[in-house]
Amino acid sequence: MSKVEKAVLVGAYIPGKGNKSEAEESLAELAELARTAGATVIESFLQKIAGPNPSYFIGKGKAEEVKAEVEKEEIDLVVFDENLSPGQEKNLEELLETKIIDRTGLILDIFAQRARTKEGKLQVELAQLNYLLPRLVGKGLALSRLGGGIGTRGPGESKLESDRRRVRERIGRIKHDLEKVKNTRELHRLSRRSVPFPVIAIIGYTNAGKSTLFNRLSKAPAGHGVLAEDRLFATLDPTTRKIHLPGGQAALISDTVGFIKKLPHQLIEAFKATLEEVREADLLLHVIDCSHANAGLQIESVKKVLEEIGAAEKPVISVFNKIDRLEDGMVPAHLRLIAEGGVPISAVTGEGIDDLLSAISISIKSPLP
Ligand code: GTP
Repeated sequence: MSKVEKAVLVGAYIPGKGNKSEAEESLAELAELARTAGATVIESFLQKIAGPNPSYFIGKGKAEEVKAEVEKEEIDLVVFDENLSPGQEKNLEELLETKIIDRTGLILDIFAQRARTKEGKLQVELAQLNYLLPRLVGKGLALSRLGGGIGTRGPGESKLESDRRRVRERIGRIKHDLEKVKNTRELHRLSRRSVPFPVIAIIGYTNAGKSTLFNRLSKAPAGHGVLAEDRLFATLDPTTRKIHLPGGQAALISDTVGFIKKLPHQLIEAFKATLEEVREADLLLHVIDCSHANAGLQIESVKKVLEEIGAAEKPVISVFNKIDRLEDGMVPAHLRLIAEGGVPISAVTGEGIDDLLSAISISIKSPLP
């Protein structure tokens, strides 16, 4: 993103279906997501509504209030916490004269920025195109006027201007490419299964430090030189590496996509392959950013996604990451309660990594390589 975009957040709750404190928590998370996407959050609006307004989702009066703020602060982006219909999005864009995205659009944007593997990139693009398709009418013009940035990344501005037919063709091509990548992945998985190493998947809320930990663990002293299969894994799938544990054990470790609360169903579908990795793992490392004010909520969100994908019963080691950011170095007691037996570490400084490797070693009983 070239410049920091100024964002306003808008949430609403319907008494009986939700309550104010839940809506506030959800908005706090939305603010975190907006920051992750690279925006600066200027203001949040929360409205109690009897039901979604068909034109603006929130009431017209509230929408006018948001408009005043957008004008006063020269806001680039208004993010709605609930999913908007394409019609509501278009009406809001016309009224507020700025870019509008909803929670799903924001999450898709974050995934577009973070996707690392070829498969991940294709999957995000597919999810984005499916999300954009019903929104394309009249949007190409509006978006080129509003410029790029959050909500327009991934498929790219130029593609937004293409017509539905071209988008459908692109979707067809991506599905075809994905099939090919999946076949390679399946072969990879089978070849991996033929080696007697346990598989560990690193999971956790987005930004918890999974990739940093993955990189640190895969740099752990090998003492065995580079084996042929290390290279094989590296070329087939850059997110799987072999690691060596104390006592001579070895294991394969995989990095996965970050989990997010209210993961859009398009992404649950799109990331099925990555999530299958989680289901197939022998052990999960649940990385928690214990310096984060909403760490408790994030732990619960991750547990919920694990349930949704049928991986709730897997053996898990909780990893309290970023302890270097804690003032007294102590993991808050409430986190230790909900993530019992967690190992405190800093993926950045390396503190606690030996303890983590020992915990992994005890948890898996892999044969000696
Ligand atoms: P997603 O790809 O969004 O799921 O993120 P992730 O969980 O892979 O997190 P990543 O490793 O990209 O780290 C996110 C940010 O946290 C980066 O800026 C890291 O430098 C920082 N970070 C990770 N681990 C630590 C840590 O132990 N201490 C500190 N201070 N920062 C850390």
